[in-house]
Amino acid sequence: MIVGVIGAGYVGVVTGAGLAALGHTVRVGEIDPEKVALLSEGRVPFYEADLERLTSEGIANGLLSFHVDNREAVSEAEIVILALPTPPAADGSADLAAIERALEGLTDALRQDVVVVTKSTVPVGSVARFQQFLEDRGARATVVSNPEFLREGSAVGDFFHPDRIVIGSRNQQATERLIEMYRGLQAPVLATDPESSEMIKYASNAYLATRITFANALANVCEHVGADAEAVIEGMGYDRRIGFHFLNPGPGYGGSCFPKDTRALVAIADSAGYDFKLLKGVIDVNEMQLRRIVDKVVSSLDGDGDAKVAAWGLSFKAGTDDTRESPALKIVQSLIDRGIQVVAYDPAVTTTPIDELEIVSDPVEATKDADVLLIATEWPQFASVDMGRVRDEMRGNAIVDARNVLDPEAMRRIGMRYAGVGR
Ligand code: UDX
Repeated sequence: MIVGVIGAGYVGVVTGAGLAALGHTVRVGEIDPEKVALLSEGRVPFYEADLERLTSEGIANGLLSFHVDNREAVSEAEIVILALPTPPAADGSADLAAIERALEGLTDALRQDVVVVTKSTVPVGSVARFQQFLEDRGARATVVSNPEFLREGSAVGDFFHPDRIVIGSRNQQATERLIEMYRGLQAPVLATDPESSEMIKYASNAYLATRITFANALANVCEHVGADAEAVIEGMGYDRRIGFHFLNPGPGYGGSCFPKDTRALVAIADSAGYDFKLLKGVIDVNEMQLRRIVDKVVSSLDGDGDAKVAAWGLSFKAGTDDTRESPALKIVQSLIDRGIQVVAYDPAVTTTPIDELEIVSDPVEATKDADVLLIATEWPQFASVDMGRVRDEMRGNAIVDARNVLDPEAMRRIGMRYAGVGR
């Protein structure tokens, strides 16, 4: 099949390179010429495991190409996948301007019977809205919903082994064409109407955010009653109705999806006349969780001037260099706002928008003369750093482990004061 992809961000590149690996001819349109130049050499402008290999293979096989002109990317395509950003507008609802601008420029370049796929997370009703938008401009295309469920850091694996493929369309032929495109993948296909498909994405992300927030709130209670949240959650997880995933307490969820999608679902509910109190509570508790970590760091400081914190981890989770809505970065910013000096180490992040933040290339070096060590991202390699050396480098002896990466007993044995989340 010939597939056009609009947008070479995380979703666009993973989907494009993945579909090329399934044997399709994929042309990706991207307005940023620098990105196109880089990608055309098989280099990916962000860190995602295995993606450079997949991209290079696609190019070498002659199946994957990148184009500055979107029209070139879609001219022969049977399927056009929209993978453009839908950033939150002021009221939390998703802003569809980027998608509509792209569609505007494409209307007369699309093949007559093309299937246009919305992969980006879009408000319920967007498929119908884009369908009308194209019809008003004389384009004969069928718009369908096919949400992505890719996790950063494991996006390539997620592409080839999805838990499910959701297709939202009232047009049987369009649905079948999409099923055909994904034929190389083994996953249950849920074919439903566009509105339900659009809602599935919000519902899944909001539910996962709620689970994390439940675990965080529970961990906070555990701290007060002397229970160990890790044990409590393990005990819950064995219940097959509950399971172990997405119950790790921490500094609150972050990243480019959960904060945006939870707010968007609240906005969708509000405009439909339903007050989604539960989800509003989740968002509030998530913000409180971040402040609790900041308070833990501040209260571990002795309080007599020139305080210094070593921060391990800046990305919003392990396995990525992405700092969008990163809890780690928000905590660091809030410490700096209080006049505290922060020196950070992250295995993947080397620059941030925070000018006052010093970033070093070694975890032990970051702890030199620090009063507190803060662990804000769950990079597994932090657990194997020589903590004896860290203790000797530090001025103080406090650890605030916002991701429960270290062993509290082992830390206490080497003379550190340890505060995790819920333990
Ligand atoms: C998420 C969804 O998982 C994915 O399906 C969707 O397409 C995009 O959004 P992603 O943002 O890459 O993916 O990250 P994810 O692994 O889901 O983690 C989101 C946030 O929750 C991170 O800040 C992470 O650290 C946090 N988290 C996750 C926890 O605090 N505890 C957990 O148990 C799990």
